[in-house]
Amino acid sequence: MKKILAVLLVLLIAGFAFAGGNNQRSSGSAASGGASASASASQAFIGLAMPETHVQRWVKDGNSLRDEAVKRGYRAEVQYGDANQATQNQQIESFLTQGAKALIIGNINDGVGSVVSSARREGAIVIAYDRIIQGTNDYEYYITFNNYKVGTLQGEIIAEALNLTAATSAAPKHITLFAGSPTDANANFFFQGAMDVLLPHIERGALQVVGPFPRHYTDTANFQRIATENWQPAIAKARMEALLIGDARNVTLDAVLCPNDTLARAIIEACKADAKYQGKLPVTSGQDAEFDSMMSIKNGEQTGTVFKDTAKLAEAAVMLADQLLKGQPVNIPGAVLAAGATTEIANTGRGYVKTLLLDPIKVTRANLQVPVQAGFFPDAEAAQLR
Ligand code: BGC
Repeated sequence: MKKILAVLLVLLIAGFAFAGGNNQRSSGSAASGGASASASASQAFIGLAMPETHVQRWVKDGNSLRDEAVKRGYRAEVQYGDANQATQNQQIESFLTQGAKALIIGNINDGVGSVVSSARREGAIVIAYDRIIQGTNDYEYYITFNNYKVGTLQGEIIAEALNLTAATSAAPKHITLFAGSPTDANANFFFQGAMDVLLPHIERGALQVVGPFPRHYTDTANFQRIATENWQPAIAKARMEALLIGDARNVTLDAVLCPNDTLARAIIEACKADAKYQGKLPVTSGQDAEFDSMMSIKNGEQTGTVFKDTAKLAEAAVMLADQLLKGQPVNIPGAVLAAGATTEIANTGRGYVKTLLLDPIKVTRANLQVPVQAGFFPDAEAAQLR
């Protein structure tokens, strides 16, 4: 009898231990589905994986994300993937080994999928940050800006600076096109937004495209020719130099569609080295309101940029992680769910992911103070921009 009781006791204890283990796992996954209040902010660790440092914005993103996470009582660490997905994957695996409860990832390409699966297995929440993770929709959220609108604002910067509505086919303006990385879905939306503004002027002959001309990013052959692998400025500069002595040899370019500030500055550098453009640079677009580009706009070189308040994006992403970890309903002030015209921003290629969008703002010399007044720059930089 005693023996039977002892066996029953052992079984009972084992049963509790097993149920406890299960509870722990399911509270992890329930939290990731947004149901239970489990994570204690004071202990939980958030891994912050940013793609690169050769584009100024990401350093700012990394710092803002870390500060926000710490402010909310989390432990947090930022790693930069150096535009190399294998490197970033190692960093994310290491976050998971350290017990990360949430990952906020600005990925490099869809090779990130394997670590998203690892995170799923470990019960960690994954938030795609600024760039969608493609090839899987098995993660919690994507938070970004309205990337299509970023593109339309870039198109507007050019259309307004060239006064395209007044231009005619008798005296057409000339433009050449650049796009971002072909591995970054954002690049497609930026390009398409800009083209939706510029195409009507191209169709009526008031704007002529010099060099490769994809009407749509799905024209892969031509899009590849204007795309810039991993957003590397050296690639854009070399391509601009080649254009100036190639396709654009016999025309004067009035504008260059530049997909971000880092590439705009590289393209402007190439133009400045060409005698033809020394007095009058082509009109250029950009995005990110990077300090060097803001100075360039102030000095009359780059024409405009698109301000994406990444401090707000970082704040929103950490707030989202916090709400998911605590099983609270998601409620992010200033962000809207992708729907209607913006639905496609949420398309992973394997189904849609819940996507929150923030609003970008067009900036030219006329409203250069907008990002400054938003507190986007440290005092020493703000002083130079005033
Ligand atoms: C971001 C841009 C950035 C670019 C290059 C894009 O995914 O949305 O803000 O300029 O990557 O880093």
